[in-house]
Amino acid sequence: MKILFFDTKKYDKESFDKILPEYEGIEIEYVEADVSERTAKYTKGFDAICAFVSSNLSRKVIEILAENGIKLILMRCAGFNNIDLKACEKHGITILRVPGYSPEAVAEHAMALALACNRRVHKAYIKVRENNFSLVGLTGYNFHHKTAGIIGTGKIGAAMCRICRGFGMRVIGYDVYQNPDLDFVEYVELDKLLEESDLISLHCPLTDDSYHMINSKSIKKMKNNVILVNTSRGALIDTDDLIKGIREHKFHAVGLDVYEEETENVFENREDDILETSITSRLLSFPNVIVTSHQAFLTEEALEAISYTTMENAKSYINGDCIESNIVK
Ligand code: NAI
Repeated sequence: MKILFFDTKKYDKESFDKILPEYEGIEIEYVEADVSERTAKYTKGFDAICAFVSSNLSRKVIEILAENGIKLILMRCAGFNNIDLKACEKHGITILRVPGYSPEAVAEHAMALALACNRRVHKAYIKVRENNFSLVGLTGYNFHHKTAGIIGTGKIGAAMCRICRGFGMRVIGYDVYQNPDLDFVEYVELDKLLEESDLISLHCPLTDDSYHMINSKSIKKMKNNVILVNTSRGALIDTDDLIKGIREHKFHAVGLDVYEEETENVFENREDDILETSITSRLLSFPNVIVTSHQAFLTEEALEAISYTTMENAKSYINGDCIESNIVK
């Protein structure tokens, strides 16, 4: 099997090259470019492609892949909201993903963002470097004895619940299914979670139901001085409504690893570019907001797990025994 590996970064190549010798009969060619209408044509002669969170797998791209004989899309991530599933079905293209690699990696980053934005670590770091030892503007809140509201209590949300419990917080959760492993979590309706939480962390997938679940209406229901963290998907939050809420002093702090319109930015050095949209700059204009660039997954343990599961997915496709839960339908 020949796989064309799109959007390759140094750390991807390192972690896949390390284990490739264990997979006889599978070849990988790495390219830096991501898959798009322009680059999809270079897939001729390959059997599969490997893509990531911001890859463009629209209907048009899928059609080009199908014309070139691509039969398999290996997503080296959990999310698949960037794939036209109907087009894949029509052209008989199988999609295999990595449903879980290191939930703790993402949950720990969510807590890192919560702590950093709460205690203004991002401001303090810069101030002290400039010999400004004033503490004005750096006051935070204790997490101990506060309420953490976790939206989506699957693998990552559950890890976040455990971390919050470790901080001595009361943990409440909202999910369409209750996780039986979380006996210390009190499940509540979304409105109650919004009304009672001091820290709200989003861990549900982006679907038609969850699109813009955080909007002016839901922000209004939140406590004043709430801390909001999103490490899930940007479009769970209506960014214009969030910016309005920040301007109205609703939030003590906001930590975002994902945000709407991040696609062009994700994993790219764009310091010489004039950006097409102003979302990032508007968010970064606020002293109580921290933005990271979709890096919550990025730990050595997660990279190793991602490369193993992706290669196992390729092997299982060849052997005709794909793991049901890794198939995207
Ligand atoms: P999971 O499938 O284990 O858990 C998701 C949970 O959300 C499930 O319990 C599900 O019932 C619940 N859910 C679904 N729709 C909901 C809704 N409308 N309202 C409330 N709950 C809902 O998924 P996992 O592994 O925990 O990942 C969660 C999300 O984290 C992924 O969908 C992905 O978008 C994001 N993610 C972000 C990463 C990053 O680097 N920033 C890395 C990996 C995942």
